[in-house]
Amino acid sequence: MKTAEQEKITQAQETCRIPKQLALFERASKVIPGGIYGHIAPLMSIPGVFPYYTDRAKGCHYWDVDGNEYIDYMCAFGPMVLGYHHPKVDEAAMKQAALADCTNHPGPVMVELAEYMVDMVSSADWVLLVKNGNDATSYATKVARAHTGRKKIVLCQGHYHGVAAWCTGPCHAGIVPEDHTNIIRIPWNDLDAFRKVVAENKGQIAGFMATPYHHPTFIDQVMPSEGYWKGIRETCDKEGIVLMVDDVRSGFRLNQRGSDAHFGFKADLICFGKAMGNCYPISACAGREEFRIAASKVFHTGSYWFAAVAMAASLACLKEMRDGGVVEKMNRMGKMLGDGLKDAARSHGLEVIITGPPAIPYMRFANETDLFRMQFFCAEVVKRGSFLHPHHNWFMCAAHEEADIRQTLGHADDAFKAVKEKFGS
Ligand SMILES: Cc1ncc(COP(=O)(O)O)c(C=O)c1O
Repeated sequence: MKTAEQEKITQAQETCRIPKQLALFERASKVIPGGIYGHIAPLMSIPGVFPYYTDRAKGCHYWDVDGNEYIDYMCAFGPMVLGYHHPKVDEAAMKQAALADCTNHPGPVMVELAEYMVDMVSSADWVLLVKNGNDATSYATKVARAHTGRKKIVLCQGHYHGVAAWCTGPCHAGIVPEDHTNIIRIPWNDLDAFRKVVAENKGQIAGFMATPYHHPTFIDQVMPSEGYWKGIRETCDKEGIVLMVDDVRSGFRLNQRGSDAHFGFKADLICFGKAMGNCYPISACAGREEFRIAASKVFHTGSYWFAAVAMAASLACLKEMRDGGVVEKMNRMGKMLGDGLKDAARSHGLEVIITGPPAIPYMRFANETDLFRMQFFCAEVVKRGSFLHPHHNWFMCAAHEEADIRQTLGHADDAFKAVKEKFGS
């Protein structure tokens, strides 16, 4: 009997534009659980089209192991924001690497980066530097509990904060109900639901954590409704609840001062990752003065957290984002892409819905909920040389140029034609 991985390989071999990658995946499936794990794994269920392994990358382009080239609209699922191998970021990283990276102690660059972020980020009076987004969100919940002496954390349904047990959905393997004993989930954008759980759990809620807007997978993105964040802020202030914003995905793509500033409020604690290092592994939890003492008491560490190369890269990346009009460029390119996709779809008698900020768009066909058209469309685009994901929001970067967008719109035009032929509407 074939394993699930072998079954995927057999299916993939039928349409072989990636033979070397399938051979690698076959080897991987013998030594790595699932062959490839995590966020890219769902694409393996559409075998033989989407690339499995990267060979090299430059700017907003990358090449898979079979030599196929893609214009990238996933940007490493967010961390690539200036373009792969951005010269200033790589130069800063290499300079630091020649001095020291992971040693017993942090380097001076840790202080410089923290100072820079305190100056740049609207709600930062201090910064703790970590590695993954989930390090930052887990740390934030500990600070909220240490500060308030309370246990419960309120989250929004469908918001992703990482893979630690406290925030992984209850239906995932390895999670037990006790992991969520002190976690309450409420619908996004529902101020009344928040006020209700606060009233029902008076004096017990340590913190509320949410992403600045709703960016789940598989469904449309939803921006905060008028007055939502203001109402959340007021209720948190009144009830002594710590307001935590998970800006890991959207941070520095909406606003260089943080997404709370973008939506006109101040978080108590705000978590960044992804875009802050242009692919170097680094993330952060920043907070306001009031939480400094609790923040300094929480025990939280990791073998690589003092590694200086990623800090030097991050400092160069943040400087470039602050000075280089990066947010504006990503939004301009994202708008060009979104408008162009809508027009191209229309020209084939199709309609697409695009939600979320232009720099982080999510697209689906207006007349479907099962995403089969979207999977087929993205596969057709990928075959032609632009990498789009059918179920996840896309990411724009500062290296996207009008010529790239035009080329992708050409790929999309062919793909919409193919959708029309296959599905009829
Ligand atoms: C909103 C959000 N929070 C937290 C995380 C977790 O970050 P990481 O995968 O770096 O641990 C992610 C990752 O996609 C995310 O999108």
